[in-house]
Amino acid sequence: MEFSIQSSSPEKQRNVCIIAGVFESRCLSPVANQLDKISDGYISVLIHRGELEGKVGQTLLLQHVPNMSSVRILLIGCGKEYEFDERQYKRVIKKVVNKLNDTGSTEAVCFLTELPVKGHNTYWKVRQAVEASQDALYIFDRLKSKVPELYRPLRKMIFNVHEPQELTSGNNAIQHGLAISSGIKTSKDLSNMPPNICNASYLSTQVRELVDSYRKTTKIQIIGEKEMQKLGMHAYLAVGRASTNESLMSIIQYQGDPDIEAQPIVLVGKGLTFDSGGISIKSSDSMDEMKYDMCGAATVYGVMRVAMELHLPLNIIGVLAGCENMINGHGLRPGDILTTLSGQTVEILNTDAEGRLVLCDVLTYVERFSPKLVIDVATLTGACVIALGHHLTGLISNDNSLAHELLRAATQAGDRAWHLPIDDEFQEQLDSNFADMTNLGGRPGGTITAGCFLSRFTHKYPWAHLDIAGTAWRSGKDKGATGRPVAMLSQFLLNRSGLSNDK
Ligand code: BES
Ligand code: MN
Ligand code: ZN
Repeated sequence: MEFSIQSSSPEKQRNVCIIAGVFESRCLSPVANQLDKISDGYISVLIHRGELEGKVGQTLLLQHVPNMSSVRILLIGCGKEYEFDERQYKRVIKKVVNKLNDTGSTEAVCFLTELPVKGHNTYWKVRQAVEASQDALYIFDRLKSKVPELYRPLRKMIFNVHEPQELTSGNNAIQHGLAISSGIKTSKDLSNMPPNICNASYLSTQVRELVDSYRKTTKIQIIGEKEMQKLGMHAYLAVGRASTNESLMSIIQYQGDPDIEAQPIVLVGKGLTFDSGGISIKSSDSMDEMKYDMCGAATVYGVMRVAMELHLPLNIIGVLAGCENMINGHGLRPGDILTTLSGQTVEILNTDAEGRLVLCDVLTYVERFSPKLVIDVATLTGACVIALGHHLTGLISNDNSLAHELLRAATQAGDRAWHLPIDDEFQEQLDSNFADMTNLGGRPGGTITAGCFLSRFTHKYPWAHLDIAGTAWRSGKDKGATGRPVAMLSQFLLNRSGLSNDK
């Protein structure tokens, strides 16, 4: 869909659908009021007759409005005015987009960007509107044999801003919003692919395709099992050993900083294209959802795309740690002791705690890039879903200022996270009688002990870990990837680039 910005007034619109808000109960927004005046009170008559209460998401589509025959008007309920916040705003935008798409309005002028949303400016409202619209229209139908064609889909959305001075930041918001949305979309597409197609080699092909269009600023490197063996990445290798699909670590190196020597920001994504649990096999209900165990890698993929599209002036390295946790005679057993790339040894107590085994070797591997900082993203623990539900991503870090920088980006982007501790007391839960540590911390604080495990491989740089087990996908009727936390990390990089516009 196409987006643009204008600073105009409702009476000047022709051949479009005008979108205006109505608050609960029956309280017209300033633009709805203007429309009411132009139409000699037509709207207030309808409202007072009870056609629209103003509850969040209620709609009323008007045609042949007096004195405004060349437009349609879509009135949208925005809920109570004093409760109109980020969540309501995004819900309303999504509702509008779906409604326009269903009713054959191909072009719309949206005045909702003029409504005050607590603590946010025009840049934020326009960017969120772009992202929410793209999210509302997302479907994954490439593997359906028949795809219904939409009659007159929504083609263009114009956001109106009150003051002409806001046009620049509005346009900026559209540019950022579109880049982030396309990062989110590619991330969702990759995550939603089935595990018989999307294996580690598929991830590496996708990486190759992504960087083909940005050849001047990016390089890639694909590391297979032979090389991992030479390097000594025995923990990573052990996880993939029972799979017929080769483990592959795909590395994207993007150089956007004018100083090519500038230390890179490194992003590492857990890319388990399927996690059966191994010998410590998972129960069969919802096991299909373990195709989403590569959502960390898909996030890194999406964020790299955003960075490249916006030509961010940073050096960024993205690592997709592709692998599959299956079951056969070559597989990992409980009791095995592995030597990691760092030299530390790990006693395996549960083959389903595989993500940390893959990540620990990658976290050691990336030391060679002398990173400015490293952020790993992983669907690491079911315990994170218990702790934070499906709304917040778990955040663990060895560096408080990095943690706060990420939390701020998360709030700005509306892609929230929660900071969990890694106090030394938790480390003891990983004690082993036979090796340097076990891969299992027990049930109490499962997300934290997984973080503690990773922290033992991150002494050389500031590091943060995002556990996205609860936020990366939805189950049930709306099963599908969410594309989180692409928005959070993109915001983090925009802030680091000095391109944030939240003032
Ligand atoms: N990929 C899973 C974590 C997961 C489970 C994410 C369910 C989302 C939903 C991970 O590899 C795993 O199996 N973790 C185990 C760790 C445990 C054995 C310490 C878990 O959470 O049960
Ligand atoms: Mn597992
Ligand atoms: Zn897993």
